[in-house]
Amino acid sequence: MQKSSYGHVSLLEAPCLIDSRGTLTIYEGPYDLPFQVKRIYILHSLPHNSVRGGHAHRNLFQILIAASGSFTVTTDNGLERSSWTLASPKHGLLITPGVWREIRDFSPNSSCVVLASELYDESDYIRDYSQFRSSVS
Ligand code: TYD
Repeated sequence: MQKSSYGHVSLLEAPCLIDSRGTLTIYEGPYDLPFQVKRIYILHSLPHNSVRGGHAHRNLFQILIAASGSFTVTTDNGLERSSWTLASPKHGLLITPGVWREIRDFSPNSSCVVLASELYDESDYIRDYSQFRSSVS
């Protein structure tokens, strides 16, 4: 994917197969995923008052999925702030590089699955909000 000067955020809708046994939700590259997944991590056992994120990435694309329960993601690309409530595995929040994000308001037993385009790299993080604001144009 091309990186634009401002990061962007969008909601993907994954196909679901529903029958009497339950629901099967599928994220399958290259149809439903805009990047190749190199890493998956999961946030779980989350206290309700926990705040995760609090950073932006220089090159990393991510998709956040509420595998169970719900939580709120606030995003800021330096131009606009948005708030997204994720409450179903069928919605994946695509976050490109250049977006500050915070995740909070975790419901009981919620879990957040994150699909990431790159391996973990601390140098890809911008953890200081003022530095983030200076980095976006
Ligand atoms: P961080 O990404 O700041 O967590 P969150 O955005 O969920 O609040 O990561 C927290 C710590 O975990 C930090 O020390 C880096 C480490 N970490 C890894 O070692 N590997 C990983 O894949 C991730 C996501 C984090």
